Amino acid sequence: MEKQFQSTLQSNYSLQAGEVSAQSPSNIALVKYWGKKKNQIPTNSSISYTLTHSFTTTNLQFKPKEEKGFDVNVFLEGEYKESFAPKIITFFERITDYLPFLEQLSFEVHTSNSFPHSSGIASSASGMSAIALCLVEIEQQLGGTLTEDERLKKASFLARLGSGSACRSVYKGLVEWGENHFMEGSSDLYGFKYPDAEVHEVFKTFHDTILLIHEGQKSVSSTVGHNLMIGHPYAERRFEEANENLKQLLAILKSGDIEAFGKLVEHEALTLHAMMMMSDPAFILMKPHTVAALEKLWEFRRETGNHLYFTLDAGANVHLLYPAQDAEAIEIFIEEELKQFCQNGNYIKDKVNF
Ligand code: PMV
Repeated sequence: MEKQFQSTLQSNYSLQAGEVSAQSPSNIALVKYWGKKKNQIPTNSSISYTLTHSFTTTNLQFKPKEEKGFDVNVFLEGEYKESFAPKIITFFERITDYLPFLEQLSFEVHTSNSFPHSSGIASSASGMSAIALCLVEIEQQLGGTLTEDERLKKASFLARLGSGSACRSVYKGLVEWGENHFMEGSSDLYGFKYPDAEVHEVFKTFHDTILLIHEGQKSVSSTVGHNLMIGHPYAERRFEEANENLKQLLAILKSGDIEAFGKLVEHEALTLHAMMMMSDPAFILMKPHTVAALEKLWEFRRETGNHLYFTLDAGANVHLLYPAQDAEAIEIFIEEELKQFCQNGNYIKDKVNF
């Protein structure tokens, strides 16, 4: 039990029916979280850009109930999803010590994503973050006494217990997660908004165009993926390197060195995939079109000098990262040369959110 996140409700709080809503964006990690300890504690620090157009909207309706236990019904894009409730109930079990009303209310969760569900974009970060924001808001409505900052911190703390990277979706801009000795304010328990003043203007203009190479379910769930790092022959070195990379990246973010940024971010992405290729069992999450797109991208960069870089999630899709100053030429290139590698020619144009 983390005392600082205990409920602020009085013992005699009264239950009532009501509803709350929240919207939360997706995020894309620059330094990757891959590997965790008990209770969703990360094995290394990570940092991500919060996106603008890829988000989840959640409406939570609640009313008092008599029976014991959790009662949750979930609707995605208006359609009842029986299979979604167990995931939310597992989440509620993990956080019930911090929100005593969870067992006393019945919930209807109405959620929708701004991106297609089948797109292979993880909705767990934006989804868990949106629910956590709703729950903190309910606590407030029932008489909680948190300030705005404390509410966001608690939402980030709760979101982490739902899906690790979700704790970074609570804030805009660049968000760090994971305790380390070089960042004051960093914690394993919640995301930490990296100060905008520490970030060179060029990095606040970045676009993230997501090539939807392979729509559909990921072949390795993140739970399975994180567990592959247990006993992995390169795990310890990877965890150290991630922290070293974050430290380096902070200096780069300040300096405005776009090339150093791209080099580090691509290395991080390929390391994440290399870790999976060296796991037991092994996974190759890139598809032939992922590799083809990366090769084309490198060729374009060599020939034109435009600042176009990539990162990858634990899947086949490619996140193209580039500053606004180069967007015009790059977007023509995407349309003419990269679109062919996307399933049904689909890609999503997003950008960072400062
Ligand atoms: O939050 P999870 O458990 O789904 O893990 C996400 C892991 C990566 O997306 C691959 C990397 C990251 O830091 O977001």
